[in-house]
Amino acid sequence: MNNIDTSQYQIEREPYYLKVADEVELFQAAYDARMPVMLKGPTGCGKTRFVEYMAWKLRRPLITVACNEDMTASDLIGRYLLDVNGTRWQDGPLTTAARIGAICYLDEVVEARQDTTVVIHPLTDHRRTLPLDKKGEVVTAHPDFHLVISYNPGYQSLMKDLKQSTKQRFGALDFNYPAADIEARVVRHETGIDEVIAGKLVQIAHRARNLKGHGLDEGISTRLLVYAGQLIAKGVDPVAACRMTLVRPLTDDPDMRDTLDAAVNTFLG
Ligand SMILES: Nc1ncnc2c1ncn2[C@@H]1O[C@H](COP(=O)(O)OP(=O)(O)OP(=O)(O)O)[C@@H](O)[C@H]1O
Ligand SMILES: [Mg+2]
Repeated sequence: MNNIDTSQYQIEREPYYLKVADEVELFQAAYDARMPVMLKGPTGCGKTRFVEYMAWKLRRPLITVACNEDMTASDLIGRYLLDVNGTRWQDGPLTTAARIGAICYLDEVVEARQDTTVVIHPLTDHRRTLPLDKKGEVVTAHPDFHLVISYNPGYQSLMKDLKQSTKQRFGALDFNYPAADIEARVVRHETGIDEVIAGKLVQIAHRARNLKGHGLDEGISTRLLVYAGQLIAKGVDPVAACRMTLVRPLTDDPDMRDTLDAAVNTFLG
């Protein structure tokens, strides 16, 4: 028995998610097989929104962990805490998810050190167990428990990559910025701006995405297009809105800023 309040992890309202291809069916099938899933794709393209949507659709609680390089295995699994009565074990988010049958979403998992990442191994093969070594307990995952990880393939270096023995425990789905018509619908839905201006924002993004690898590390994300639309919906001049949200966050290089500002002017000036 556990006395964890699972309602805090339950997604009550349907998150807005526009299907891009067959990702919903594929994720559903992977979930049915309890096959761990890896979402790969650039920043701001819809990975987190997709997981929230799938958790809602599958009616599973969702526990998200933002991974970073300072994270230790204890941050995932749990640790002993000191309180007035002595020591008390506190489950980490991965342990909680395994106990209650949640979807555990480890965001940007390559950021974590490899010795941290390996703790998911016994959970992601036929064993479906999580040993809590310090506590002397082996947690058997709830039948509904599911593990999802994300990463941005653009960022990782040789030092920061998942081990093959980690990678090969997952089915993987590629994410990218949605096709122009779908992306424009997303921006309209999220911001309320009209079709014409949403279309122009997407066209600006397409121009900038062509510069990835030619002076830009990343293209303009769907998230930034939503930001631009939010400012425009508040009455901000579209060119100023785009400079603030589509150009300035992306680069400090003066030439690249000029190039992007020019693209904004082409479509909105
Ligand atoms: N297919 C989609 N349906 C609905 N909204 C979308 C879709 N794709 C992108 N979005 C929008 O893009 C925004 C950013 O998406 P999200 O936060 O899921 O990105 P992400 O891929 O998780 O990025 P990061 O890697 O930086 O965490 C969302 O808030 C949402 O408005
Ligand atoms: Mg995310």
